[in-house]
This record gives sequence, C-alpha cells and structure tokens, in this order.
Amino acid sequence: MASVNSLSASIQQRVADALGADPLLRRSDRADFQANGVLGLAKRSKQNPRELAAQVVEALPAGDELIAAVEVSGPGFLNITVSDAAITRTLAARAADDRLGVPVKPEPGTTVIDYAQPNVAKEMHVGHLRSSVIGDALVKILEFEGETVIRRHHIGDWGTQFGMLIQYLVEHPHELDHEASEAGEEAGEASMSRLNRLYKASRTVFDADEEFKTRSRKRVVDLQAGDPETLAMWQRFVDESKIYFNSVYDKLDIEIRDEDVVGESGYNDMLVETCKLLEESGVAVRSNGALCVFFDDVKGKDGEPVPLIVQKADGGFGYAATDLSAIRNRTADLHADTLLYVVDSRQALHFKMVFETARRAGWLTDEVTALHIPFGTLLGKDGKPYKTRSGETFRLVDLLDEAVERASAVIEEKNKEGKEGALTEEEVADRAKEVGIGAIKYADLSTSLGRDYVFDLDRMVSLNGDTSVYLQYAYARIRSILRRAGDAEPVAHPELPLAPAERALGLLLDEFTETLAGVSETYEPHKLASYLYALASAFTTFYDQCPVVKPEPAPDVKENRLFLCDLTARTLRQGMALLGIRTPERL
Ligand code: ARG
Repeated sequence: MASVNSLSASIQQRVADALGADPLLRRSDRADFQANGVLGLAKRSKQNPRELAAQVVEALPAGDELIAAVEVSGPGFLNITVSDAAITRTLAARAADDRLGVPVKPEPGTTVIDYAQPNVAKEMHVGHLRSSVIGDALVKILEFEGETVIRRHHIGDWGTQFGMLIQYLVEHPHELDHEASEAGEEAGEASMSRLNRLYKASRTVFDADEEFKTRSRKRVVDLQAGDPETLAMWQRFVDESKIYFNSVYDKLDIEIRDEDVVGESGYNDMLVETCKLLEESGVAVRSNGALCVFFDDVKGKDGEPVPLIVQKADGGFGYAATDLSAIRNRTADLHADTLLYVVDSRQALHFKMVFETARRAGWLTDEVTALHIPFGTLLGKDGKPYKTRSGETFRLVDLLDEAVERASAVIEEKNKEGKEGALTEEEVADRAKEVGIGAIKYADLSTSLGRDYVFDLDRMVSLNGDTSVYLQYAYARIRSILRRAGDAEPVAHPELPLAPAERALGLLLDEFTETLAGVSETYEPHKLASYLYALASAFTTFYDQCPVVKPEPAPDVKENRLFLCDLTARTLRQGMALLGIRTPERL
C-alpha cells in the first residue's frame, strides 16, 4: 500500500515553494494546470502581478522531470504543462498499488450513518430507494478512505399502529404462518403479501368494531409496558418484515447486516430519560400538556412558533424523542464524531430542530458534526411525484423488476452483434440484473443530491450518454481489448512521448484521489459518477485516436497503451464498486 502524490499535488507544492503562498492551482484547458495565486499575493504585497509571475517562473526549475513548461498569461496567471514522463511515471505508481494510489486518511474518525430505513409491516416504495442507494455508496466511499463507519438502519418498528396489528394477530394466530416451500425472492413477496393482507383485514375490523378498537388501544399500552406476550407478537411482525426487506435489498444488491438494523424500538428504554433531561435542563417546556422545544426561527404561517414535540400531552413519545435518544446513543456510546442522516428533504425541518435541541442539551458538542443529507423526489415524466397510473405510490420491487427487464432487452439486442461469441441465456439473465440495477443506482447517484429527478427507464438503460450501461460497456470493452492483446502485457514506458488523447486520459486517471477526497468532504456521490463518465469518455477518444491492437503499433507504444487501458479499467471498476455498481467482464 503506497499512496501516490498526484501530479496536481506535486505541482502545487513546487509552485507554493517558489511563490511563498498558495498558488491556487486548478486544471485548465489552456495548459494542463493554471495557478492564479500570484494575483492575490501581488495585491497583498503591492507588487506588479506580471512581474511577480515572471519571478516565479525564474524560480521554478523549468524543463525538469515534472514541469515541462511554465508561461505567464493574462494579468499574471501561470500556465503549467507537465512533462509526459511525469504523467506516465505517476500513473505507473498508481498501477503498482492495489488502492490505485489513493491514501488512507491519516486520522480517521467514526461516522454513524443512518440510511435504508423502511417501515415494518409496510411496503417499500420509491422513497426508500434513494436513501438506500446513496447511503450504501457513502458507506463504501468513507470506508475506502479508512473512516470507521457504523451503519444504522433506523427502521420504523415502533408506535401506536402496532396495537391494531398485534391485536388482530392475537385473535387470528395463524395469519403469519409460512408455507414450507418459501425461499429466496418468493419468500420476500410472500411475507409482504401476508403483511398486506393482515393490515387490510385488521383495518377493516378496526374501523367497524368499537370493541376491537378498544382492545387494540389496550394492546398499545401493553406493548409500551413490555408485556411479554405482546412483545413476542410484535417481534413476529418485525421478523416477517425483515424477510421482505432482505429480499428487496438482495435485488438491489445492497448488503444490510442484521446487527446494523437498530430501529426506533431500539431506543425505547431511553425515551423517558431523554424527556426528563430535556425538561430538567429547561431545553423543553410543557405547553398544553405536551413537552415542547421552541425555536425563534421556526414559525407557522400564522406567525405562531411551531415547536418540536418530544412528548405528546397523552404521554406518548413521537419520532423526535426517538431521534434525540438515538443521538445520545450515537455520541455517548458509539463515540461518533460525525452523524449522517440520509433522509428525504421533506424531513429537513425535523432534523434542524432535532440537531438544535441536541446542541442545547449538550448531546451534540462542537466536536461532533451532525448532517442531514437531504435528497429530492423521484418524478414521473409529467414532472409530478412518480406514481402508478392509478395514482398509487410505486412499489419499489416493481420498479426494480422493470429495470432488469429493460436491461435484458438492451443486452439481447447488443448480444446479436457480439464479437467474442454470444452470451448464454443464463449469462444474459445475470448481466440484466447487473445492468438494470446499476442503471437505477447510477441515475440516482449521478444526480446532485438535493434535486428531484425524472424516473425515466428508457434513458437510464440507454447505451449512449451518462448512464451506468455506458460505463459498464466501456469497462467490458477494455477488458476485451486486453484479452485480445495476445502476449503483449501492459507496461508503462515513461520515455515515450504521449499523444494528446493519451495525455488527456492520463491526467484524468491521476485525478481519482482528489475526486474521492471531494466526494467524502461534501458527501456528494455525483462527483464520483461524473468523474467516471468523463473518464470513460476520455477513454473513447483515446481509443479512437490511438490504436492499441489494430493497426498494430510499435511494441513499446502498444505496451504503454495497454497500460493506459488497464489502469482505466481498474479505475472504472473501483469507482463503480464504490457506487455499489457491478462491472461485468463481458457484456
Ligand atoms: N422510517 C422513516 C421513513 O420511512 C425514515 C427514518 C429516517 N431516520 C431517522 N433517524 N429519522 O420516513
């Protein structure tokens, strides 16, 4: 494991030494890099910027092994061209490392990330998609950088709605019995249809039968009091739902570990104390019987303050009490220094109030960062929230199945023109899963977080444009080139000059480290997605302009080009893996 100094880091250092200030280096289309830090320094030290720039050029060892040329341009910018040898050498160092030269953070912290939080006894819908996909990518990226990541699936597994369900199950004890033959995906579907049936049946009785209603309300009290029989029934709902959740997550190719599922019920024992602490410290006050926290800047339309209600007047605890208790657990017991919540943007106010309350109570200190990572809504082509034709919310599984089906058609079509022999039927089915699920994940992750986006499967599985399929094909194509290279091996040749398309590809390959650093700094996976797309596009241009196998170039050129191919493939594969997307060897 050897982290590699990227070209931009090396140049930044070099120019900083010559300038004695931050050169503010960035990529440029005039040269490879442009530094405009001269301007600020000239202003601060009252010098002529062009003269200062010329002095820096003097001080830089031009024509050396790193910098091939430096020029002053405009009011005092420095245009810097790196040497071809430096590009190839840096890439060779990346290629020699399993981590492609990406360093592990020197001082990793502990991040608790709250994501993929469906609700017990309820169908998962498109709203649960984004939290799962974005959260999973962030977990992978943060872990890759060496952060200790604790995953928390804050599932909705507690609350008054369970009274009715449990009471019905007590009165109809066989409703959750399983068929002997259930397994895998079918088991998940069977579980959900049992839960749905039970929900509907209990609702009907609840609405029609006053006595059942009374018995159900009594059940809620028993549940909250921890009555063993009631808890055992409740547990059956949780277990049944987990079978369903797991089948959906399998389909989504997202790993959910049982020990990380700590739902709302997990904080039950803390609720009373949380309220007591808030009330004693005066952070929360009683208002019409309810325990409330007020904020100067949170007011309703009528101008009246809207409080965060921690405990209702009837004594019941709500969503906020649970989240506040979870913060206490995550900071005091799990020692988190960063708390992330991947939850849709409609809950922004909730988190703002919860975080502020936790700060006032001292549960969140200055050492802890708490961040809501909000995401937008999935829209239909009509620009309205994505619904079925009959106006219901889409079931997540239906959506996933449809994506796989579409992908299958695309692969079949492409398979007909296959150069290396067609895929078998089984291979097509496997690829369809990787492409279809990849398409959904990529469409989600390539959109900047806060934005709503149109759920358009045609676009998502398109071979052209910014899609996962495009990237997966780019990867498979490179792998095929490498297979067809015969005996030639990928070998870096720093002594060879590079063609423009080779330089462009090389410079981009070298940006992998900085791209990942940017993603984990702002928690925005779309920066990685757009990097990978740019990389695949640069590869396409390179492959158009620089023959690798046919017409056969000189042996050393061929080896160097294979080297670029190989590193591009590995970078694409690693980057896609961090987004949770598979890159099959053949497509
Ligand atoms: N279960 C909730 C929902 O489906 C999301 C939970 C978000 N996490 C949290 N800590 N509040 O909307």
